[in-house]
Amino acid sequence: MTWHYVDGVLHVEDIPVPEVADRVGTPVYIYSLDEITRRVRLYQQAFPEALIAYAYKANANPGLVAHLAALGCGADVVSAGELRVALAAGVPPERIVLNGNAKGDEEIALALRVGVRSLNLDAVEEIPRVAAVARELGVVAPVALRINPGMDVRTHPHLRVGAAGSHFGIPVADVLTAAAKVASSPYLRLRGLHIHAGSQLTDLEELAAVAQVAVHWARTLAEAGYSLEEVNLGGGLGISYTGGEDPGPEEVVRRWRPYLEGGQFRLIIEPGRWLVAPAGVLVVRVVQVKQAWGRTFVAVDGGMNALLRPALYGARHRIVPVRQGEDPVPVDVVGPICESADVLGRDYPLPPLKNGDLLAILDVGAYGRSMASTYNGRPLPGEVLVRGGRWELCP
Ligand code: LLP
Repeated sequence: MTWHYVDGVLHVEDIPVPEVADRVGTPVYIYSLDEITRRVRLYQQAFPEALIAYAYKANANPGLVAHLAALGCGADVVSAGELRVALAAGVPPERIVLNGNAKGDEEIALALRVGVRSLNLDAVEEIPRVAAVARELGVVAPVALRINPGMDVRTHPHLRVGAAGSHFGIPVADVLTAAAKVASSPYLRLRGLHIHAGSQLTDLEELAAVAQVAVHWARTLAEAGYSLEEVNLGGGLGISYTGGEDPGPEEVVRRWRPYLEGGQFRLIIEPGRWLVAPAGVLVVRVVQVKQAWGRTFVAVDGGMNALLRPALYGARHRIVPVRQGEDPVPVDVVGPICESADVLGRDYPLPPLKNGDLLAILDVGAYGRSMASTYNGRPLPGEVLVRGGRWELCP
C-alpha cells in the first residue's frame, strides 16, 4: 500500500506528505519504489520465464526506471529518447524492444547500433525502411511483426489500439505477406510476433483472447516455415481507480496458460500501468476556494498540465485530503489552466478546505508526469522517490 494516514496526516510509506510538499513545493509527484518492488515481484512470480519489458511511456523517471532495471526488468521503448533513458538506467540492450508506428530512420539506426532485442514492425511499409537502414549499417536487424487483431476490447476508445480501422499494427490478413517480405531480405531476421490490443483492460477474458490470437498467428507462421523464437503479448492489464481489487498477473497467467502450453515460444510482456500507477500520488495545493452557481470550486496549483488523464479520457482519480477533516461536502476540484476541460474531479466529497491546504490525487504513477506539459507557462511538476523510509527529489 503506497499511502495511509497516521494521526490524520497522509503518508507515502513512512514519509509525511506535508514534509515533502513544504520542502519541494507543489505540484509534486511522489512515487513509492517499495510499492513498485512489490508489484514487480508479483509479475516475476507469475511469469518466471518471461522477459518483463516495462513500458517506459507509463513513467520514464530516471530513478524509477533505474530501480526497475535493478529488479531485472527490461524495457519497451517507443522513441530514441526512451531508448537512451533505458540504456542510462542500465538495461542491457538485449532486454530492450523498440515499438512505435512512426519510427524515424535515426531511431531505427540507434536501435540497431546499440543492439536492441527486436524492432517491432508496425506496418508492411516499414519492412523495406528497416532493411535499408540495416543494410547501411551492415547489420541484420532482429524484428517482430506487430499484428493488429481487429479486436474491440472494452476500454476508453483512446486506449483501444488493436481494433479494425486502427492505425496501429499489421492487420492479421497481411501477416503472411509481411513474413514473406521479411524473409526475403538478408538484412532482416524474423524473431517474433507482437500484439498489444489496448490499455486499462480489466476483463481477463479479453486479455485471454489477445493471447489466443497471438499464439494462433505465431503457430500459423511457424507452420508456414517461419521459425519464430518469441511472442510478445504487450501490456494492457488495468487497475482499479476506485480502490477496488485489481486483477493481478497471477490471474492473467492462469487465463493464458492454455495458449502458452508447450513452451514453443519465449514470452515477452510489456506491462506499464499495473506496475507503477498505484505507486504514485500527485500532491497539489489549494490556491483558492470559490463559491459560484451554487457550487464549490476548489482551485489547485496543478491541473491538466500536471495530470492530463481526467481532461483527456474523463478519468476519475480519487482525490483525498492530506490532512483528514470532518463533514465532507461535494466540491469540484479544478486546475489553473485556462480551459474548461481543466477539471480534476467534479462532485468529490472533501472536508472543508482553505487556501494553502494540500490534496493528493491517487494512482497517478503511470501516465501522469509522463504526459504532463508546460501549457500556460507552468513548470513541470517535481518528482520525489520514496524508498526504505527515505525520500529524495529527482534532479
Ligand atoms: N506496449 C505497447 C505497445 C503499448 O502501446 C502500451 C501502451 C503498453 C505496452 C503498456 O500498456 P499498459 O500496460 O500500461 O496498459 N495514456 C493512456 C495509456 C496509453 C497506453 C498506450 N500504450 C492512459 O493514461 O491511460
